[in-house]
Amino acid sequence: MNQMIFITVCYIVASVLFIIGLKRMSSLVTARKANQLSAIGMLIAIVATLLTKGMMEWQWIVLGLAVGTAIGILAATKVAMTAMPQMVGLLNGSGGLASLIVGWSSYHYQPNASLLTTISTYLAILIGGVTFTGSIMAWVKLEEKFITGKPILFAGQKIINALILGALLWGGIIFCSQPANHYPLFIIIMILSLILGILAVIPIGGADMPVVICLLNSYSGMAGAATGFVIINSMLIVIGSLVGASGIILTNIMCKAMNRSFTNVLFSGFGSEVKKKKTDIKGEAKPIGVKDAYYVLEAARSVVFVPGYGMAVAQAQHVVRELGEILENNGAEVRYAIHPVAGRMPGHMNILLAEADVSYDQLFEMDAINPILDTTDVVVVIGANDVVNPAARHDKSSPIYGMPILNVDKAKTVFVLKRSMRSGFAGIENELFYYDNTHMIFGDAKETLQALIGEFKSV
Ligand code: TAP
Repeated sequence: MNQMIFITVCYIVASVLFIIGLKRMSSLVTARKANQLSAIGMLIAIVATLLTKGMMEWQWIVLGLAVGTAIGILAATKVAMTAMPQMVGLLNGSGGLASLIVGWSSYHYQPNASLLTTISTYLAILIGGVTFTGSIMAWVKLEEKFITGKPILFAGQKIINALILGALLWGGIIFCSQPANHYPLFIIIMILSLILGILAVIPIGGADMPVVICLLNSYSGMAGAATGFVIINSMLIVIGSLVGASGIILTNIMCKAMNRSFTNVLFSGFGSEVKKKKTDIKGEAKPIGVKDAYYVLEAARSVVFVPGYGMAVAQAQHVVRELGEILENNGAEVRYAIHPVAGRMPGHMNILLAEADVSYDQLFEMDAINPILDTTDVVVVIGANDVVNPAARHDKSSPIYGMPILNVDKAKTVFVLKRSMRSGFAGIENELFYYDNTHMIFGDAKETLQALIGEFKSV
């Protein structure tokens, strides 16, 4: 077969594998296989690209492949599940940097390229630069190593960002009109893009970073697609477009589930001040001891666990599964209710529960579990807060008003496992804690669950 046709066929096969992989990512059951399919697609794409005529400098390619593979394997095996957003952030940043470097070097090869190539080079530099420093900033904020995750706000911030963006657009028009004469301008565009990436991300709070990382993921795809136009590589254009589009869709889904607009996440500095809200919550929270909670659970015929960010902090997923099995052996029907933005990253709870070997068919999404919560004997809320706050349904002044929640307050009895009365991510009080059918079990979630298991085992 002609080499060109062979490469094209490989690219089509790789593209199909990417699309099937993406589609299958939407279910936990098929996600692992989907990842493998996409990885095979990537391998086919790389090998086909290496077969392209003129791709002769094997020593550099092999060196790059070896270094990249070693770093990838090391990072993937070492990273803790809770540090996954940081890892994804760094991977996005690498994608952005790669696009920037390819765009830069391609300018040296062909400073007098066609208008399409020049515009693509400009976009690869612009989006690649913003993605690179934006992702590094997101990583720094999530790690909280050098600075805290709090939003960094200063007077005139939005105006400065708008001026830089304006300068980049204006510079882009001049550069694209006569690329060969404007190398200094090209460098200025690159530097401004890198600065914009930092400035765009510093006003966003650490807890909103997963949304930003999804957006940067989308940017890295767009930068890759632009690079594909620069070096005329259809595979890169396809992959870049898929990453760009799916990243935007995921960002949108996350914003919707948090009932926040895209602009609110990007520009509001959510979390920069504690949102103190005058509350007319009446009544007292009712703490309950582990022994009393055990008696209720022992008699329960249906139990729903609602995991939240606190379960991830306590690393309580394995003990939750153990208690779930004990309850099942005791004759109860056990389910797990998953809110789409429980925790701090998409699928956070699903990943933790899958790690603890909770069966997929026991996991229920919000729309599936809500209709059966009012016939449930006991709901055990494990370190969740905002995602079970009934104020979202009726309190128009609440920052989370309109956010779809798990209606756990409808259950006959609710146990809330947390350490204190402190608020969650949104910084607001939770009226659920004061309801007649709610009982607080204070303490670290893992320790409380272990104590409950101890009660079951002691009889
Ligand atoms: P949160 O509302 O953040 O509440 C978590 C609760 O866990 C806290 O109130 C805390 O109370 C408790 N906790 C912490 N450590 C604990 C431990 N060791 N043992 C027991 N409890 C512990 O969590 P949520 O209900 O999962 O809601 C998620 C929030 O994050 C939403 O507002 C969502 O919009 C936002 N968000 C989500 C995402 C994604 S994609 N998932 C991304 C960005 C933001 P104590 O301190 O009293 O223990």
